[in-house]
Amino acid sequence: MRAQHCDYFTPARHIGSSVVIRAVTLLAGSLLGASAACAQPSDKPADNPYTAHYTSEGTTACLYCHDVERMRLISKTPHGNKNNPDSPFAQHGCESCHGPGSLHATRSRRGRGRPPMIDFGINTSTPPENQSQRCLNCHGKKMGKLDAMQWKGSVHGSPWKDDAGKVHEMTCSNCHEEHTDHDPIQDKQTQAKTCYSCHKKEEKEHPRFKEQAIAFDKLSCWDCHDVHQLIPQGR
Ligand code: HEC
Ligand code: HEC
Ligand code: HEC
Ligand code: HEC
Ligand code: HEC
Ligand code: HEC
Repeated sequence: MRAQHCDYFTPARHIGSSVVIRAVTLLAGSLLGASAACAQPSDKPADNPYTAHYTSEGTTACLYCHDVERMRLISKTPHGNKNNPDSPFAQHGCESCHGPGSLHATRSRRGRGRPPMIDFGINTSTPPENQSQRCLNCHGKKMGKLDAMQWKGSVHGSPWKDDAGKVHEMTCSNCHEEHTDHDPIQDKQTQAKTCYSCHKKEEKEHPRFKEQAIAFDKLSCWDCHDVHQLIPQGR
């Protein structure tokens, strides 16, 4: 496997972050040990066009640099369950979500960081649609007890315009957090807070259905609204 180390871990030329320093220290050993196989280390121009592929070391390759507690937590969630063949960690590990990382893991671009990975969240470099698609590669189909999600074309899965005419698009990360063993949207106590951040009116004015004897405040929003597959009304 030594030759693969050469392929994956060209020493970083741009030391822009302490995570890289850690990797260089760690990797110096394997590079030295593999010096024969690495007689001609890959040193192509920073913007070479070849396409990234999945690393053969998977999660191990990523944790060389991203070895912080928050990243490791995912192994304690259903996504980290290697015994479930549908789970990311039974497939390409971190790269099942973040995309093929061979270039990112090996190359820094002087002064401009590394070739980017799929980056989840609000206002990241990855467009919302591409983020959701990554999750839907799996969640768009039935997996064990989980039904396939009908996200596309749903109310939350469709772009909308605000009063100023600006177009917004939601991603799974508007509601979910993945690098945690406690996703606040999946906790009845904290779920409504996220919903109310957009649905300010409902915080004050949501019908309480008293005449139907419904104990509204004991329910979570999810008990009544499947927010993934809400059907748009009159749109
Ligand atoms: C040699 C160190 C190193 C390795 C190995 C590495 N990363 Fe990174 N990663 C970084 C640095 C440094 C950043 C900060 C952004 C930059 O400088 O480009 C980063 C940023 C990121 C980001 C934020 C988005 C972005 O692209 O900036 C994600 C997501 C990410 N890495 C995922 C991964 C995954 C998944 C792997 C395994 C395939 C991996 N990284 C392997 C050093 C590394
Ligand atoms: C490689 C396939 C795969 C990808 C990619 C994937 N998931 Fe999952 N996800 C699963 C599986 C499998 C489960 C566990 C199902 C079970 O427990 O039966 C799961 C469970 C979940 C759960 C519920 C369990 C929990 O406590 O976290 C959420 C929420 C979730 N995924 C969100 C996401 C989001 C958001 C993304 C994209 C950032 C994503 N998933 C990407 C396969 C995937
Ligand atoms: C508007 C907020 C919101 C968005 C956006 C959202 N989710 Fe969810 N998701 C929820 C809520 C609320 C739950 C239910 C939590 C609970 O169990 O109480 C949930 C539960 C889940 C579950 C567990 C399902 C189950 O039946 O137990 C999965 C898997 C999941 N979401 C995946 C995704 C994926 C993938 C995306 C993006 C394509 C996404 N979600 C976008 C709010 C959201
Ligand atoms: C289920 C999909 C999924 C898997 C698997 C996954 N990530 Fe992430 N990653 C995300 C999401 C979503 C975010 C946005 C922040 C969040 O939700 O916690 C993120 C954020 C990041 C970031 C950005 C910086 C930060 O602190 O948020 C880095 C770096 C990263 N992940 C690295 C990794 C590494 C390393 C692994 C493997 C150990 C990994 N990810 C596995 C979905 C995933
Ligand atoms: C990032 C903003 C955002 C978040 C967070 C959010 N929503 Fe929405 N939601 C919207 C938008 C935009 C619409 C469509 C326009 C509208 O009807 O207000 C919508 C529509 C709805 C609708 C109306 C569906 C219809 O047919 O008109 C319901 C019900 C709803 N959301 C419930 C929830 C629940 C429950 C949560 C929390 C689990 C949540 N939303 C979180 C933005 C959000
Ligand atoms: C007991 C079931 C129930 C619970 C719990 C519930 N809702 Fe609703 N919600 C409804 C019904 C029914 C409607 C449609 C009401 C109507 O049209 O008069 C609705 C409508 C809405 C709408 C759309 C209003 C519109 O303009 O059409 C939003 C947004 C919403 N709920 C958000 C939430 C949020 C956020 C929570 C959690 C705090 C929540 N709901 C909890 C049953 C519920």
